[in-house]
Amino acid sequence: MPLRVIDHPLIKHKMTILRNTETSTKKFRELVAELTLLLAYEATRGLETTPTRVTTPMGTFEGETLKRSKVVIAPVLRAGLGMVQGMLDLFPRALVAHLGLYRDEKTLEPKVYYQSMPESLGDAVIFIVDPMLATAGSLAAAVNLVKQAQPARIVAISLIASPEGAQRMAREHPEVEIVVAAMDSRLDERGYIIPGLGDAGDRMFGSYKIDPSAPGD
Ligand code: PRP
Ligand code: URA
Repeated sequence: MPLRVIDHPLIKHKMTILRNTETSTKKFRELVAELTLLLAYEATRGLETTPTRVTTPMGTFEGETLKRSKVVIAPVLRAGLGMVQGMLDLFPRALVAHLGLYRDEKTLEPKVYYQSMPESLGDAVIFIVDPMLATAGSLAAAVNLVKQAQPARIVAISLIASPEGAQRMAREHPEVEIVVAAMDSRLDERGYIIPGLGDAGDRMFGSYKIDPSAPGD
């Protein structure tokens, strides 16, 4: 399944502001939510519809509505949490599973520390959300966890991918559809995406720098 980079001026605009070190934590969170919603529009293109007849004030309309299959949103903690609201705006009844993973800073290997997911996902489409696809260790591990519940389809949504991570996903999980806002140049020696945006979790949750604005802003 190919990785798709969504080429859209709104996405380019918001991604540029997101990457900027001058962007505040508050603005960073808002942008991540907005970008998720824009990417979700593309990532949900494959959802099936069912013929639905409705009556308009002027007559009958033969339309389509989404098939009643389960939608599950699975954020990879921590940074994926910032992408949940954008998905819930589109799918307010979706189930939210949680995948607790962090990347060991030395080995770059993913460590699973928490998992909350239904045992069986039946006919569900599961959207794994994580802003960064770097070495792809975390996404590959998240997909392995999710596969235990045998969902019908797995779609991953990220903001930035590296070529190395994309290649690894194509090798290890070729059936997973991946939708991203940008494909960057490379990884550095610490496994960070260049030019990227730094540590997504730190920027999202304010560990990056203390925001001097008043609490409650
Ligand atoms: C970041 C990011 C991804 C992972 C990507 O999380 O949110 O989950 O790194 O790197 P990879 O593709 O090389 O695995 P991190 O491990 O820093 O955890 P955090 O979100 O809790 O900060
Ligand atoms: N995790 C991040 O948050 N950023 C990167 O560039 C790589 C991994």
